[in-house]
Amino acid sequence: MTLQFEVPPPETARDETYLAAVIGAIPGPVIVVTAEPRIVAANGAARDILPALRDGDLLARSLRDPDVLDGIGRVHAAGSPETVAWRDRVPVERSFEVTVAPFDAPGEERRLVLTVRDLTEAHRVERMRVDFVANASHELRTPLASLLGFVETLQGPARDDVRARERFLAIMGEQARRMARLVDDLLSLSRIEQHLHLKPKKPVDLTLVARHVADTLAPLIAETGVTVVIDAPDPVVVAGDRDELVRVTENLIENAIKYGCQPSNRAGAGRTGASPVEICVRAVGRDGVLSVRDHGPGIAPEHLPRLTERFYRVDTGQSRAKGGTGLGLALVKHIMARHRGSLSVHSEVGRGALFTAVLPLHPQGNR
Ligand SMILES: Nc1ncnc2c1ncn2[C@@H]1O[C@H](COP(=O)(O)OP(=O)(O)OP(=O)(O)O)[C@@H](O)[C@H]1O
Ligand SMILES: [Mg+2]
Repeated sequence: MTLQFEVPPPETARDETYLAAVIGAIPGPVIVVTAEPRIVAANGAARDILPALRDGDLLARSLRDPDVLDGIGRVHAAGSPETVAWRDRVPVERSFEVTVAPFDAPGEERRLVLTVRDLTEAHRVERMRVDFVANASHELRTPLASLLGFVETLQGPARDDVRARERFLAIMGEQARRMARLVDDLLSLSRIEQHLHLKPKKPVDLTLVARHVADTLAPLIAETGVTVVIDAPDPVVVAGDRDELVRVTENLIENAIKYGCQPSNRAGAGRTGASPVEICVRAVGRDGVLSVRDHGPGIAPEHLPRLTERFYRVDTGQSRAKGGTGLGLALVKHIMARHRGSLSVHSEVGRGALFTAVLPLHPQGNR
C-alpha cells in the first residue's frame, strides 16, 4: 500500500499564485517586479503589449526603456510612486505612461508594481485635432486674405475704376462662395459624425440617385466635354438617407469628371473618342453597389490609403483650381460608415480609377 501525502507548496509560491490571480483580474496592463528588476508576475494585458515578458526574466529583456528602468530604481529607493513616459518604436510607434508604485508585504523585500496606460490612440486623436484646426484655418485664410486685399484695393487705388471694380467683385464673390462651401462641408462632416451611431433606414433608389446626380452635373459635363455613361437598368433600393447618398454619388462622379479626364481630354465640349466616365448601379446579394469608373491618370498607390483624410489632395493646386476643399471623400467615408456600408478604391497609374460604394439593400424595398 502506498500512502500519498499532499505537500503544501512553499509560502512564496502560494503568494505568487495569489498575486498572479489578483493582477490577472485587472483589465489594464500590470507587471510586478523585484528591485533588480526581475519579473514576478504580469497579467494578460501586459503580455499583449510586451509578448516577450516571462516570469523570472529580467524586465530589461522585454522593456528596454532606460527611463522606466531608472524610475524603478528611484521608486525602490525612495518608496514613493512615480509616473514615467515610455515610447516604443518597434514594431509600430506607441506611447505609454508607466506608473511605478512600491508594494511592501510584511517580511518580504520590496516589490514594485508597474501599471501601464496606452496613450497611443489619445495622442493620435490629439494630433488629428491639431492638424484639423491648422488645415481648416489655412483653407479659410487664403480666400479671406484675398477678400481683404480686394476690399483695400477697392477702397484705395481702384476706388473710381468701374471696370476693375466689376472684375474684383466677381473674384470676391468666388472667394466668398469658396469659404461658404468649406464651412458647409465642415458642418456636414460634424453633423454626420454626431449621428454616426444612427443608421439611416429610409428606402432610397440608388438608380434614381445616380440619374438625378448626372442631371445636376450636366453643366460640368458640358463644360468639360466628358461623356458620362450610366448603366443602371433596374431600381436598387438601399436603406439610407437620400440627401447623404446624393452627396456620395455627386462627389464620386464629380471627382471622376474633374480628376479622371486626361489633360488632352479636357479640350472642351463636342470632343469625340475620349474615354467616358462609367457609372454602374447593381444589386449584388444583399447589397446595393454603386461604382464610378474613369480612365484618367489614376492615383498612385501611396496616396490611396490617405484619400479619405480631411483636406487630403493628391495635387492641392489642381483641386483648389477646381474649387475643391479636399473634404469630399472624407464626407463620403463618414456617410458610408453611418450607412454601415463601405467604400473601396482601385486604381492603377495611367489606367484610371474605380470607386465602389457598397450599401445594405432595404429589407422591403426590392420585393
Ligand atoms: N477619380 C479620381 N482620379 C484621380 N484623382 C482623384 C480622383 N478622385 C479623387 N482624386 C484625388 O483625391 C483628392 C481628394 O478628393 P476629395 O473628393 O476628397 O476632395 P476634392 O475633390 O479635392 O474636394 P471637394 O470634394 O471638396 O470638391 C482629390 O483632390 C484628387 O487629388
Ligand atoms: Mg471631390
